[in-house]
Amino acid sequence: MSTHDLYTIPVGLATWDVGMSGASRFTWEYDDGRDRMLALYQKGKDKQWDSTKRIDWDLEVDPYDVLGTPDEMIAIYGTPLWDRMSTRMRRDVRLHSAAWQFSQFLHGEQGAMICSAKIVESVPDLDSKFYAATQTMDEARHAETYARFLQEKVGLAYPINEHLKALLDSTLSDSRWDMPYLGMQVLIEGLALAAFGVMRDITTKPLPKQILAYVMQDEARHVAFGRMALRDYYRDLSEAELREREDFVIEGCHLMRDRLRGRETWEHLGLSKAEVGEAMEATDRSDYLRAFRSLLFSRIVPCVKDIGLWSPRLRQAYADMGVLEMAGQSLDALMRQDEEIADKIDEARFAEEEAERHAEVTGTIELGSTS
Ligand SMILES: [Fe+2]
Ligand SMILES: [Fe+2]
Repeated sequence: MSTHDLYTIPVGLATWDVGMSGASRFTWEYDDGRDRMLALYQKGKDKQWDSTKRIDWDLEVDPYDVLGTPDEMIAIYGTPLWDRMSTRMRRDVRLHSAAWQFSQFLHGEQGAMICSAKIVESVPDLDSKFYAATQTMDEARHAETYARFLQEKVGLAYPINEHLKALLDSTLSDSRWDMPYLGMQVLIEGLALAAFGVMRDITTKPLPKQILAYVMQDEARHVAFGRMALRDYYRDLSEAELREREDFVIEGCHLMRDRLRGRETWEHLGLSKAEVGEAMEATDRSDYLRAFRSLLFSRIVPCVKDIGLWSPRLRQAYADMGVLEMAGQSLDALMRQDEEIADKIDEARFAEEEAERHAEVTGTIELGSTS
């Protein structure tokens, strides 16, 4: 079945074309790789996995309860709008918000694949090209995984959110080689990673938990790559050049914040204009979502600080958004935890399979002895 049949809102053109800009760079130096970068490249090669084998696709998903989370987490829960809704409508709200969320993850992963391929082309150093090539493969596997999840298990998809699209557009159409890193590795991936993390930790359903944990395990390398490359490069930039990067980050963070509001789901559910307004207001006011939103900056803010874009102006922008305190988060600790969670899921999963195989063998033996 074509994905176009699953889109709630027709996406129109079959492709979205962003003009290419900047140079494709060759280098003739094959022997000056940085040890840290080459070690990351090695890890990128060692840690490839195959979603057809590692993920248990036989697990069932209820499209009306994809994550198995309580209704209290829905933005409009407890509002007059929610109270007026029929049980059927509430089911639709649950389905559409999960479909919207996972669709944005999927489009973001495709964006990440395209951005990392662009890094392969444009970055001047061979060690970075090598690493970015492994990331391109990682992102292809992520897009493959989310696409399968949406198509086979959720059965409904949303087009790309306009704010995410705007950020991807300005990231990809910039000719400076560091911009795909800043837009993609730091902002889009930083936000996605935090969103994956919240969902991985709150979901009670095994399939989305596996997917989120395994994807996150790879993302830790991607963040490390962005930090390493930009920290080295930004050290030598002029004040004016750094200022341009900061403007890009501030603008990008505003776009990311607005992307989270998900206006299109409410519009699509058949609510009146006034009700959409009510839902948006509830989204902005909801304590749960406010906490969720600031948590979503837990990976971006420390990373921006770490790469050396930490002027008073940028700090003020984060203070205005209410996320400045996220600068104290330890990215390394968060990423170590991501690794451990994925490893634990593997252990539990494969121990279970082992037990099942054992039971099967014992059963067969017993069968043989009684016949
Ligand atoms: Fe990814
Ligand atoms: Fe990534």
